Amino acid sequence: MATAAAHRTAGAPAYGAPHADPDGDARQRAFDAAVAADERVEPRDWMPDAYRATLVRQIAQHAHSEIIGMQPEANWITRAPSLRRKAILMAKVQDEAGHGLYLYSAAETLGVSRDELLDKLHSGRQKYSSIFNYPTLTWADVGAIGWLVDGAAITNQVPLCRCSYGPYARAMVRVCKEESFHQRQGYELLLALSRGTPEQHAMAQDAVDRWWWPSLMMFGPPDDASQHSAQSMAWKIKRHSNDELRQRFVDICVPQAESLGLTLPDPDLKWNEEHGRHDFGAIDWTEFWDVLKGNGPCNEQRLTQRRRAHDEGAWVREAAAAHAAKHAAKHTGKHTGPTGVEQA
Ligand SMILES: [Fe+2]
Ligand SMILES: [Fe+2]
Repeated sequence: MATAAAHRTAGAPAYGAPHADPDGDARQRAFDAAVAADERVEPRDWMPDAYRATLVRQIAQHAHSEIIGMQPEANWITRAPSLRRKAILMAKVQDEAGHGLYLYSAAETLGVSRDELLDKLHSGRQKYSSIFNYPTLTWADVGAIGWLVDGAAITNQVPLCRCSYGPYARAMVRVCKEESFHQRQGYELLLALSRGTPEQHAMAQDAVDRWWWPSLMMFGPPDDASQHSAQSMAWKIKRHSNDELRQRFVDICVPQAESLGLTLPDPDLKWNEEHGRHDFGAIDWTEFWDVLKGNGPCNEQRLTQRRRAHDEGAWVREAAAAHAAKHAAKHTGKHTGPTGVEQA
C-alpha cells in the first residue's frame, strides 16, 4: 500500500548497516502501521533490524531444511520398488531442491548472500529441521515422511503464505502446492503397503511408529518454552503458536491413520468431546533438545554429505559464473558498434 510504504522505502539501509536517520521513529511507526493493516513488507521498505534478522534466521533455516531433507529420501531412489515409485520419488526430491532455491532467493532480498548462508549451515552456525537427523531404515519410511513430515510442513507453512514479509509469503504459495503433492504421495504409498502382505503392513506400521513423535516435534518447543514465538506473532511472521499448529496436525492425522488402517503410537491419544479436539501424550522434549544439539542419529552424516556435495559442485558454480560473464560481455558487445554508437 502506497502511503505507509512510501515512508518506509526511501534510503533503506543495507542489511546490518547502522541506522543514522533522524526519521527513525516515523519509519518505525509506518512499519508498525503497515503490519497492523496486514500490508506486505517488501525488500526496499524500511524494517527494524530485529525483524530483518529474525526473517534471515527463519528463512535460512527453512532453506537449509529443504536441501538437507533431500538426503534421507534420496537414500531410497536407487531402491524404489518400481519405475513409477522411482519417478515419483525423484520428482519429489527435486521439488525439495527447488524449495531450497526459492527460499535462498527470498533470504537474499534481505541483504545476505547465499554463500554466506551455506557457509553458516556447513559450519553449524545455522540449523535445519531436526527431523532430517533421523534415518530412513525401510522403503515405508518414504511413505511416512511424505504423509507425516510433509504433512507437518504444510500445517506450518500454509499460514506463512500470509506472512508479513512479501517474498517469503509468495515463495510459500508455490511451496505449499508442491508439499500437498508430497503429502498425498506418502499417504498413497503407505496405503498400498498397509493393504499389502502382512509383512508390508508391518513395515508401514513400524515406519509410522518411528516418525510420529519426531513429526510432532517439528512444530518446535511448547509455547511457554519458545523464545521467538511472541515477537514473531506480533510481527505477523507467524500467525499461530507452536502448540496450536501441533494440535491442528494431530486432529488432521487421527482420521487419516484410521483410513490407512494404521495406528498412531500413543496410548493417550483420544478424542476430547468437551474441547472438540484430541488429547495426546507427553512429547519427549529431552530427545528434541538432544537432537538439536547435534546428538541425533544422523546429524554428522547429513552435514558431512552436504559439505561434500557443495565441494563437488564447485566446478558447476565456476562454470555457471564463467558462462554468465561471457554472456554479459557478448551482450554488451552486441549493442555497441565499432563507432561506439549503440546499435538497435
Ligand atoms: Fe519442501
Ligand atoms: Fe516436501
